[in-house]
Amino acid sequence: MNTPQKAAAGASEVSFTLTDSRNGETIELPVLAGTEGPQVIDVRRLYAESGCFTYDPGYTSTGSCESRITFIDGDKGILLYRGHPIEELAEHAEYMEVCYLLLYGELPTQDQKDKFEKNITYHTMLHEQLAYFFRGFRRDSHPMAVMCGVVGALSAFYHDSTDISDPKHRMVASHRLIAKMPTIAAMAYKFSLGQPFVYPRNDLRYSENFMHMMFATPCEDYVVSPVLARAMRRILILHADHEQNASTSTVRLAGSSGANPFACIAAGIASLWGPAHGGANEAVLKMLEEIGSMDRIPEYVKRAKDKDDSFRLMGFGHRVYKNFDPRATVMQKTCHEVLGELGVNEPLLELAMELERIALEDDYFVEKKLYPNVDFYSGIILRAMGIPSSMFTVLFAVARTVGWVAQWNEMIEDPLQKIGRPRQLYTGPSQRPYVRIGDRE
Ligand code: CMC
Repeated sequence: MNTPQKAAAGASEVSFTLTDSRNGETIELPVLAGTEGPQVIDVRRLYAESGCFTYDPGYTSTGSCESRITFIDGDKGILLYRGHPIEELAEHAEYMEVCYLLLYGELPTQDQKDKFEKNITYHTMLHEQLAYFFRGFRRDSHPMAVMCGVVGALSAFYHDSTDISDPKHRMVASHRLIAKMPTIAAMAYKFSLGQPFVYPRNDLRYSENFMHMMFATPCEDYVVSPVLARAMRRILILHADHEQNASTSTVRLAGSSGANPFACIAAGIASLWGPAHGGANEAVLKMLEEIGSMDRIPEYVKRAKDKDDSFRLMGFGHRVYKNFDPRATVMQKTCHEVLGELGVNEPLLELAMELERIALEDDYFVEKKLYPNVDFYSGIILRAMGIPSSMFTVLFAVARTVGWVAQWNEMIEDPLQKIGRPRQLYTGPSQRPYVRIGDRE
C-alpha cells in the first residue's frame, strides 16, 4: 500500500492494489484521506471489477459514510464534536450550544444561541392527543418501549415537517425532536408512577425543565439544585453524539430509504435499548447490586474472563476506545460532585471504584485494552439524582437525539447518499426443487 497523502475525502491520490489469486489480475482501489483518523480504501468499484463483496460482520473495518460531525481516536481516548474536545464542552458549554454545534457545525454567537434556545423551548409541548397514546400502554411497560411507540407516533401528528427534500421541514422536524424528547421521556416516567403529566415550563432551561417535568407534581413544585442541573447538563453533552454507533447507523439506514424523520428516530431508540449499547448503565447498576460486596469482586472478575460464561463486566470495553473513554473520566468526577452535594454515602460507588481498580490491574483487561466506558459511573449518578434505572436509557435517548438528527440531516444532504443495502456471504442451500409433503423423508 502506498502512503496516502491528506486530501479532501473523495479525492484519490494513492491506491491500494489487490491481486486476485484466482487469475493473477490486479485491481487498483483508491485510498481516501479525511482530516483525521485512518485512511479508507474505496471499495465502491470492487464488486463490478472483481465480482466479490467485502465481508465485515459488525462493520469493524467499514466506513459507512463521510461525516464532518464527530471524531473519535479510540487509541488516544479522544472525542471531538465538530473539532471541539468533549472535556472542554462538558466543562464550559451549555447543552443548547452543543446542540447548535452538532446541528449547524459551529458554536453559536449569543444571538444565534438565544434564538435557537427560544425555538427549542417553544416546541417542547406535545400535541394533546398524544397523551392518549401513553394511556394505551400497561403501567409496568419499560419506558423504552413507550418511547419507541410514542416517538414513532409523532409521524402521525406533525405533517408540516415531513417533506425530507425541504431543508426547512427537516430543521423543524429536528427542532421538534430535540424539544419534545424530554417531554415524552418525563411523561413515560409519570405514567409508570400513575402520576399526572407535568407540562413543560418556558422559563426553565432544557436540563432544569426536564427535571421539573420528571419530579414536580401539580401539588408541589420541584426546585432544581444547581449541582444536579450541572450534572444533568454534562450527562446530556457527553451522550450527544458518538459517530457511527449502532443506533446512529440505524437512524441513517432507516432514513436512507426516505422514511419519515420521526420514524427514523424511533428506529434509533429501538437500537439504543440493547444492553450492549444504551442499556449498559442500567446493566452496570444491576451488576453492582448483584456483586453486593467487595469480597465478591474477584469472583465476578473471574467470571468475566471465563469464555464459557456469558457474563461480561458491564460498563467495561468499547468497540472504538482501546484506552480510557474520555466521557468516563468526566463522569467519574461528576459522580463525586453529585454524591458530595447530596451528602449521599453510596456503597455502590466504592464497589465500582474497587472493581475498576482490580480490573485495570488484571492481565486479561490490560491485554484486551478494556477500560471503563461512559456507562460505568453514569448509573450511580442518575440513581443518586432520584432517576430510576429503567429511565437511564431513556435519558441517553433524550441526549442522543441531537446526534441522530444531525447525522440524519447530513446523510440526506450528502450528494452520494443512496439507500443502505448491504450484501451477504450466503451459506444456505443451493437451488433445490419443491417436494410435496407426502414425498418428504
Ligand atoms: N467483559 C469481559 N470481556 C470483555 C468485555 C467485558 N465487558 N468486553 C469485551 N470483552 C472481551 C471479549 O470477550 C473479547 O474477547 P476475545 O477476543 O477473547 O473473544 C474481546 O474482549 C473483544 O470484545 P468484543 O466483544 O469482540 O468487542 P466489541 O467491540 O464487539 O464489543 C462492547 C464492544 C461494548 C459491546 C463490549 O465491550 C461489551 O459487551 N461491553 C459491556 C457492555 C457495555 O458496557 N456497553 C456500553 C458501551 S459504551 C456505550 C455506548 O457507546 O453505547
